[in-house]
Amino acid sequence: MMLHIPQLLSPEALAQARALLSEAAWVDGGVSAGSQAGQAKRNEQLPLDSPALAQIQTLVLSAAERHALLFSAALPKRIFPPMVNRYSGALNSYGDHVDAAIRHVRDAQGQAQRLRTDLSATVFLAEPSEYDGGELVIDSPLGPQRVKLAAGDMVLYPGSTVHRVEPVTRGARLAAFLWIESMVRQDAQRQLLFDLDMSLMALREHHGDSPETVRLAGVYHNLLRQWADT
Ligand code: NI
Repeated sequence: MMLHIPQLLSPEALAQARALLSEAAWVDGGVSAGSQAGQAKRNEQLPLDSPALAQIQTLVLSAAERHALLFSAALPKRIFPPMVNRYSGALNSYGDHVDAAIRHVRDAQGQAQRLRTDLSATVFLAEPSEYDGGELVIDSPLGPQRVKLAAGDMVLYPGSTVHRVEPVTRGARLAAFLWIESMVRQDAQRQLLFDLDMSLMALREHHGDSPETVRLAGVYHNLLRQWADT
């Protein structure tokens, strides 16, 4: 599933993130890529010990955790702490790659945990008018999908896809990106649940509740009960 989530960040949260970024120090992003991805990765990122990164992680995670559309589409079990990158100048692109299936993350107690990257997400932090190029290009059965969204918007896409970031030829592309381990591992099952949930919400909105919508809600929850791993 590929999904555009408008205004994941409120205008206030976006303004805070951008103010933090205007004063942040960047490092070469190649250091965090695996051997396959490192070849193609030419960008900068906020270092893991950056105070600005910690604050932006809080802003993005708190928005992600209470966003109903993102919840319905991703059914998150765990969300990887977002990272922030910049594409500009000579470090301006990231060639075709697939994200690693497993990422390591530390929990609140400092214990190492493994997280499966079922879904990838990018939150755009610069407006499209601020830079040329920089499209996120995601391979799909319908051909390459070119994504360049308003600041504050998110694109959600399967972690299994080949994707790249096109060279930025003017300005700077700023973005946060993160991975989600879903309670429902299979993309096709997640898509069915999302379609059912969206249709049920629309039915209720247009026609109110009825015995049929109650039964359909039961179907949704009983499918989720079968497929979810909490
Ligand atoms: Ni990637």
